[in-house]
Amino acid sequence: MMAAQSVLVTGASGYIGSHCIVTLLEAGYEVVALDNFTNSVHGMKNESIALERVEEITGKKISFYKCDLLDVERLSEIFINHKITSVIHFAAMKAVGESMQFPLLYYKNNLIGMINLLELMKAHEIFNLVFSSSCTVYGEPEKLPITEENETGKNVTNVYGRTKYFVEEMLRDLSTADERWNIIALRYFNPVGAHRSGRIGEDPTKPFTNLMPFISQVAIGKKDVLTIFGDDYSTPDGTGIRDYIHVMDLATGHVAAMKKLEKGKLGIKFYNLGTGAGVSVMSLIKTFEAVNNVKVPFVIQPRRQGDISTMFADPKLAESELGWKAVYTLEEMCSDFWRWQTMNPNGYKTESHTNGH
Ligand code: WQD
Repeated sequence: MMAAQSVLVTGASGYIGSHCIVTLLEAGYEVVALDNFTNSVHGMKNESIALERVEEITGKKISFYKCDLLDVERLSEIFINHKITSVIHFAAMKAVGESMQFPLLYYKNNLIGMINLLELMKAHEIFNLVFSSSCTVYGEPEKLPITEENETGKNVTNVYGRTKYFVEEMLRDLSTADERWNIIALRYFNPVGAHRSGRIGEDPTKPFTNLMPFISQVAIGKKDVLTIFGDDYSTPDGTGIRDYIHVMDLATGHVAAMKKLEKGKLGIKFYNLGTGAGVSVMSLIKTFEAVNNVKVPFVIQPRRQGDISTMFADPKLAESELGWKAVYTLEEMCSDFWRWQTMNPNGYKTESHTNGH
């Protein structure tokens, strides 16, 4: 009997990957998941706790492998053992500050890992790829809202963002050289929130820098005070503006991209996944406090180096061509993140581990 056709998801146990797999399974896809756990919970008996919880949430099984994209032999086994028809590629190192300290580590993981994956896909005649890209490729936007026509790569301010830009250009070249490639790159704006169950969420075991986890950890008392980096931007309240998008909206965006690829060859296309709404740091803090009935004490410090004043998407192209639109509100982003935080004060470490995976 023909093996079930599967979607290979790399970086599967990460924040976006784990949420995306919930939506893929609920849409009826068979999922083959791989992760190397560099950004998961270190030192736990079963590092695949996030994926076990995805199985619990959906009641469906996942074929799961611990695998690094730099381990071509192990990666090749996965392609041999499964009938893979499409790939969704999340696996990458993504800490902006760390990327400036260790550029080679980031280029090796994010670029060589991608090349290894592409070579194996081609060897197995798999050409459908959804690539996890980022609004960071736009650098300081010359016009707002940001459309897919905005220039990319010109003034990206960090190594992490450059790896995303270089992979996008690599995929363009690949698609030009070989018309069999069928690629969608999704440029996320600022992912926040968590699955409504509170069972999976953003659990960076490394020092994190993103705003929402910081707000949440101050609210729960794990950090004393939030630092607002700069209140002298030319924005209504002086603080930085971003397009925060619920991680479950990102998840449905990936399924919409998969379905678009299944409909036929499109070469390579790029889509912004954002809400189209710009929200300031101060607005997010106030919304989080009001929705969750908590206080988030803060201090104002000078601007963070490399920060951009204002970024928000024009999501019309994804809406018209993928039939996708973000539906979660800022309030839901705040309440869903808080539910995850309060149910898991120490992230996935909270779980007592009985069975390995
Ligand atoms: C948001 C706003 C800060 C922390 C980064 C990556 C990007 C993407 C999303 C992967 C800014 C302010 C933050 C804090 C603050 N990641 N802030 N105090 O920098 O927009 O984007 O994460 O794809 O690639 O660059 O997100 O959450 O760090 O900052 O005042 O403690 O919050 O100045 O205005 P950013 P962020």
